[in-house]
Amino acid sequence: MLIRVNLNGTIVPAAEARISVLDHGLLFGDSVYETLRTYSGRPFLLSRHFGRLKHSADGIHLKLQWTRDDVRREVQRTLDSESRAGESRIRVMVTRGPGELSLDTETTADPSLIIIVVPLQELAHEIYERGVAVIVSSIRRSRLLADIKSGSLIRQVLAFSETKSKQAFEAILLTEEGYLSDGITSNIYLVEGNRLMTPSLEAGIVEGITRGVVLDLARSMGLDVIEGLFPGNELDQADEMFLTSTTREVVPIVSVDGKTVGSGKPGPVAMALLKSYRASIAGLLEEG
Ligand code: PDD
Repeated sequence: MLIRVNLNGTIVPAAEARISVLDHGLLFGDSVYETLRTYSGRPFLLSRHFGRLKHSADGIHLKLQWTRDDVRREVQRTLDSESRAGESRIRVMVTRGPGELSLDTETTADPSLIIIVVPLQELAHEIYERGVAVIVSSIRRSRLLADIKSGSLIRQVLAFSETKSKQAFEAILLTEEGYLSDGITSNIYLVEGNRLMTPSLEAGIVEGITRGVVLDLARSMGLDVIEGLFPGNELDQADEMFLTSTTREVVPIVSVDGKTVGSGKPGPVAMALLKSYRASIAGLLEEG
């Protein structure tokens, strides 16, 4: 797989990209990140992703030394460094930088901006047509600092391996109090009649960029959008369910822990939202 890396403005082959073992990003997961994708080779909703990166950095008192335009330029340079067919997945991360072997952030001086571009593995059409199986993870999510996309992802790593071992597509995480939060790397939604329900920010979710687009589309389709705290057993009531994320768009969920959701087929609301999400991409690309 061709991987392109931009390390503080220098584009290097992945095998030659080096950071210090004393970088607090490596030592403590003291870093923030975003995952973007391209459509037609162009970064999608970069401004919104930069806004969330800034929110995450502010949340850990990390001063971003790069403006939105700096990040846009460096992402573009990295994409341009190699011509390739197909879309890209882009990880933009900022680490605290090298310091002492101490939790003290004041021992660090220079954060690093690292951009990693890999080919995007698009989901097969059949996945959208058939829907996916998910599990409820045994790993719980803390509501504390949940809105910060930080590099401390050990819960997600463990939830991912649990999901893989059960041959599921994604796992739903409950909060420590038992409320629905989000997927390992996605937001989740339940449909009951005309109501579209999704955990609110209070439920310890990452405020998905895709979620923002999809909720606007849902409102314009006349759905009654309810953001709130929902107990885990709300999953049993749903007529349909789906998830969203940057790289996967809108994916219908047809079973949870082996129990069928609704008709066991992708629901009409999920399919209508997937269609209108895709139809809105060209317009949103212009937003930059
Ligand atoms: N993850 N919830 C969590 C916990 C996430 O990590 C993500 C994104 C989302 C969806 O956000 P968005 O619609 O902005 O992609 C929700 C990315 C894909 C990642 O971890 O790489």
